[in-house]
Amino acid sequence: MSRIEAARAILAANDRGGYTVPTDRLYPFQWNWDSAFVAMGWVTFDAERAWREIERLLEGQWQDGLVPQIVFHAPSDDYFPGPDIWGVTHKPPTSGIPQPPVLATAVRFVLERHGAAGVERARAIYPRLVLNHLWWQRARDPEATGLAATLHPWETGMDNSPAWDAALERVPTKTRTEIRRRDTGHIDPAFRPRGIEYQRFVHLVDLFRETGWNARRMLDISPFKVADVGTNAILLRAERDLLALAEQFGSTAERAAISERIARKEIVLAGLWDDALGHYLSRDLIGGNLIPVRTSAGFLPIFAGLHERARELAARLEGWRARNIALVPSTDPDAASFEPQRYWRGPVWAVVNWMIARGLREAGEEATAASVSADTRRLVGEAGFSEYFNPMDRAGIGGETFSWTAAIDLLLGEGEGR
Ligand code: GLC
Repeated sequence: MSRIEAARAILAANDRGGYTVPTDRLYPFQWNWDSAFVAMGWVTFDAERAWREIERLLEGQWQDGLVPQIVFHAPSDDYFPGPDIWGVTHKPPTSGIPQPPVLATAVRFVLERHGAAGVERARAIYPRLVLNHLWWQRARDPEATGLAATLHPWETGMDNSPAWDAALERVPTKTRTEIRRRDTGHIDPAFRPRGIEYQRFVHLVDLFRETGWNARRMLDISPFKVADVGTNAILLRAERDLLALAEQFGSTAERAAISERIARKEIVLAGLWDDALGHYLSRDLIGGNLIPVRTSAGFLPIFAGLHERARELAARLEGWRARNIALVPSTDPDAASFEPQRYWRGPVWAVVNWMIARGLREAGEEATAASVSADTRRLVGEAGFSEYFNPMDRAGIGGETFSWTAAIDLLLGEGEGR
């Protein structure tokens, strides 16, 4: 089987009827940002299926506009916490928090690939994206500062990043829900978040559920509140892609509102730059400080269209590469908190690489963009379609036959992102 056929076969095998699970058993439902990347993978060979992926994700959208992190289309005992613990009344059941909003970027991408044949699908989806971006503003930035708040590490998609360590300390470890992890039955616990982090993750779920998933209350009471540089960069990028869609499908008033948000976000995202570390950082919204750890999320403002620091950030990547560290480690390999095998504390993730490479290419940093793409292709070529990769010995870790890794490999194989 060729490499392209192998990647396509993974998407087909993980297809559960119009939606793609991240991988069998470990993640048996539809995940938000996974599906956005997976739709971009599907469109390389099956545009109809790419649109279905997006439409099925939107079956989980709440009336207020939230596109949840997980849509529980069909029951499964393989994952904790399941729908009963979230206690959300939506049909189909969902979790109650967002994930990085890659969706508008994916819709624009799929439409551009599909061309005129995709216009009616995109037109029907467009208002749902508008509603979702309004949710980000209303629920997570009611004072219109331009920076969206994150209330749970799972919302960042980078669950146990060391960037969250200090802010998580404020979250009690007591839970009302009994913790019955399933992930460590599938995967070596050394490669997964620690138990104490899970207690805090579940404490937050308990707390939010008890507000009845009231967005305003959650924002007021959450002991964990950060402006994640990754989420905010992805959101700014998504606003630009939404604006492009609005040129075709939207009203003058919608375009004006989106443009205004973009202008504001460009300024505040630039404000997450830290001179001392020479990196974009997340901000702790309770302590008020920038969080002093370099992570792969700190490269994403380039993907958001902020190009003024691209040269400096590209040089950092080239420095790591010169030391034979595979790009892009999720945590700075020189940081005390770096753990090359443990999930978001060191390993390389293909989707993050795709965004970084695309941003670098758009910023004119072609050579480094090509390095990031080439490293990603090499990791997958040597280790397979793993969930993530050890940047030091290049081993594949976590789940296997992973959908978003296959999707990114299809895109990079075609030169997308280089
Ligand atoms: C993990 C990852 C998250 C991803 C999910 C499904 O929770 O941290 O980013 O969306 O798995 O693959």
